[in-house]
Amino acid sequence: MTATDMTTSGKTAPDYEYALEIVDLTIDVDKHGERVPAVKNLTIRVRPGESHGLVGESGSGKSLTLRAVMGLFSKGAHYRSGSIKVCGKEVLGPSAPNYDPVIRGKGVSMVFQEPAVALNPIMKVGWQIVDALREQEHLSRADARARAIELMESVGITNPEDRFDSYPFELSGGMRQRVMIAAAIACKPKVLLCDEPTTALDVTIQQQILDIFRSIADSGTALLYVTHDLAVVSQLCGTLSVIYHGRIVEEGTLRDVFDTPKDSYTRQLLSSTPYLKGVMKAAKTGDDNGGVDNSVDNSDGNADSGRKGA
Ligand SMILES: Nc1ncnc2c1ncn2[C@@H]1O[C@H](COP(=O)(O)OP(=O)(O)OP(=O)(O)O)[C@@H](O)[C@H]1O
Ligand SMILES: [Mg+2]
Repeated sequence: MTATDMTTSGKTAPDYEYALEIVDLTIDVDKHGERVPAVKNLTIRVRPGESHGLVGESGSGKSLTLRAVMGLFSKGAHYRSGSIKVCGKEVLGPSAPNYDPVIRGKGVSMVFQEPAVALNPIMKVGWQIVDALREQEHLSRADARARAIELMESVGITNPEDRFDSYPFELSGGMRQRVMIAAAIACKPKVLLCDEPTTALDVTIQQQILDIFRSIADSGTALLYVTHDLAVVSQLCGTLSVIYHGRIVEEGTLRDVFDTPKDSYTRQLLSSTPYLKGVMKAAKTGDDNGGVDNSVDNSDGNADSGRKGA
């Protein structure tokens, strides 16, 4: 969905084209006593309602990039140059050398790969969602509790009233991941960053979680979705960037990249994902479906939903 589409659907048009705009970002890391670039002149732009995949092998700089958008630099990682804008406002860059955390929550939020990173193990899960809500929304405790239960339901947590009082260890991995998504979307962020959020889950649960992300993008949120799995990208994203050794080596719509990959690393990635052979074949035969295999089970019955920008 573009900013203009949002007007026609009755929502207020934002005064920016990109919900997330990362331009020329370079991040250094400490390695063997030296500072070396690990993310190099990276540029990614994501429109409202668009799902953009960021694909690359382990250690290529995906998490560093997402964490930079959240202003999270762990020891040994350093912002060097470039600009990050959320909803048109520079949050890191020449005009904002110190990241302003006020953007977190309503502006940008993140789903981490491991719920253990984001969830407090000794706090009941419902209250963790309430915390996320109350930080931004100034709701009363009772209203926040009711809203948290609604959110839990919206991400497919059954019996949310009962589960509200569970500790993270009492839930399955899939349920913990849903709790984390509920907390991340609590304040309806304009940009949602997802760092391999389904890697640890079995395939059926993965499909359900992808459906949730699809509907989040359909509601106008810009998604930047990190994965090393092109099959996931083919189901969720309309556009993608391929990162290799900290550099974007390929970018474009799903069809452009899958049909005519320009970079040798992308070709290697594509050929090592057997599932995608059918996808590429469909793209070549002109199947007008963004080149996506319809055999993918989409529970909303719309095989193309969420793949904006293709
Ligand atoms: N805080 C840090 N200090 C030093 N080096 C770091 C730090 N964070 C990341 N690195 C290094 O930067 C490179 C990119 O790391 P990053 O975590 O972004 O990779 P990634 O693409 O997310 O990999 P994965 O798929 O395994 O999660 C790696 O070589 C990593 O070792
Ligand atoms: Mg990572």
